[in-house]
Amino acid sequence: MKIASIKGFSDILPEEVGAWQQVESVAREVFKVYNFAEIRVPIVEKTELFSRSIGETTDIVEKEMYTFDDRDGRSAESSEATKLTLRPEGTAGVVRAYVEAEMYKSEPARKLYYMGPMFRRERPQKGRMRQFHQIGAEALGRADPFIDAEILLLLGDFFRALDLTDLSLELNSLGDGECRPRYRDELLAFLKAREESLCGNCRRRIDRNPLRALDCKEPGCIVATKDAPSILNALCVPCRMHFDIVQKLLAETGVRYRLNARMVRGLDYYCRTTFEWTTTQLGSQSAVAAGGRYDGLVEQLGGPPIPGVGFAMGVERLTMLLKMHEQAIPPRPDLYLAWIGDKARSWAFPMAHRLRQRNLVVEMEGESRSLKSQMRRADKFRATAVLIVGDDELARGEGVLRDMASKRQENIKLVNVEAELSARKAS
Ligand code: HAM
Repeated sequence: MKIASIKGFSDILPEEVGAWQQVESVAREVFKVYNFAEIRVPIVEKTELFSRSIGETTDIVEKEMYTFDDRDGRSAESSEATKLTLRPEGTAGVVRAYVEAEMYKSEPARKLYYMGPMFRRERPQKGRMRQFHQIGAEALGRADPFIDAEILLLLGDFFRALDLTDLSLELNSLGDGECRPRYRDELLAFLKAREESLCGNCRRRIDRNPLRALDCKEPGCIVATKDAPSILNALCVPCRMHFDIVQKLLAETGVRYRLNARMVRGLDYYCRTTFEWTTTQLGSQSAVAAGGRYDGLVEQLGGPPIPGVGFAMGVERLTMLLKMHEQAIPPRPDLYLAWIGDKARSWAFPMAHRLRQRNLVVEMEGESRSLKSQMRRADKFRATAVLIVGDDELARGEGVLRDMASKRQENIKLVNVEAELSARKAS
C-alpha cells in the first residue's frame, strides 16, 4: 500500500529545486552585502515561546499551531509538563536565542538572518501550505528609522536581483505603547457601535484584539469597518516622526510604496513600522514578504529592553512567481559522455571522474545503449556537448565532440579532452 504525504506538506522535487537554490543563493548574497549573519535555531520550541510573543488571540496561536506533549509529558530539565510546538514563524526563536546567548552583552546591534521550514495548520490552497519555508531577517538593537528603511531597501534589492519587478510595497505604522492604546479605545468604540454587523470571530475578539477586525475578510466586517478611524491619524509625536523619516528615506532612495492604514499584521508583537510586499499574481495569498518593528519583544521574552525590526518571505510564493517568469534554471550537464563498447566504457568512467574533479558537470550511462538512444538521452538532459567514444575511436586516440546547440561536430584528441573541455567551460 502506498503511503501519501500529509495534506499541506509538500515534496520539493528535483525539477523545482533549481528555483529554490536560486532564491536561497541570491538571498545569501544580498544578506552579505547588508552585513547580516546567519543564525540557525531549532524547529521545535516550547509552546509558551510562541503564545507569549505572537499573542494568545491571534489565529496562529488560537488555531494553527502544531502542539504536542513532550514524549513523557515532562520537560528535560524539570518535572513540569511541557507542551512543544513546531515553529509557526522564525522571529520568536531568533529573539529567544539572542536573549539566551546574551548576544546583547558584547554588542546589542545584531543583524541576523535565517531560512527554513515553518508550520501552520491553515487550510491549504494555492500559495498556502501547512509546512512552508521562510527566509527571514531580524535586526536587533536599533530603534532608529534608518534600519527600518535599510531592511526595505534590502528586500527591494533582493526582488530586483530575481527580476521580480511587479511587487508592491504597503506600509503602515501601528504606533507604540503610548498611542496605540488610545487608538484601540477609539476603534473599539467605533466597532461596538456596529457590533451586530461583525462576524462571530471578530465579535469574540473585539475586546481583546479589536484591530483584527480591520483585517477580517468577511464581507460584513469589510462593510462595517469601511469608515473606521485610521491609526495613522492617531500616532503620537515620536511615532509620527519615526514613520515620517522612514518614508523620507524611501523617497530619497526611490522606493515606491502605498500607505495602508488597515494593514494589521497577524502577529501581536508589532509596533510602529509594518509592511507587506504583495503580488497580484497569486490570488488571495498575495503577501510575498512581510514584517515590521517589534520593540517590546526582547523584553517580553526575558531580555533587556532592546528594539527589533525584521521580515520574512515565503519561499513557496517566491518560487511560484519565478516559475511564472520562467526564470528557474535547472542544472544541465556540460558534457554527456557517450560510449560504445566495453573498452570505451572503461576509458569513459575514469575520464568522467577526472572531468568532474575539474568542476565539469558530466553524465554517462552505466549500461550499454545504442548511439541513437544515448543522443536522445543527452538531449533530454539538455547537455551542452556530447563526446562520442567507441572502441574504434579509442584505438585511433580520437573522439567526436558534438555541440548540441549548433549541432557541429569535430574530432578531438582523447589526450586533450580534459584540458580542452575545461578551457571551453572557462571561456
Ligand atoms: P507572516 O506575515 O506571518 O510574518 O509570514 C511572512 C511570510 O511568510 C508571508 O508573507 C508569506 O509569504 C509566508 N507565509 C506565511 N504563512 C504561509 C503559509 N501558510 N504558506 C506559505 N507561505 C506562508 C512572520 O512570520 C513574521 N515572523 C515576519 C517577521 C520577521 N516580522 C518581523 N520579523
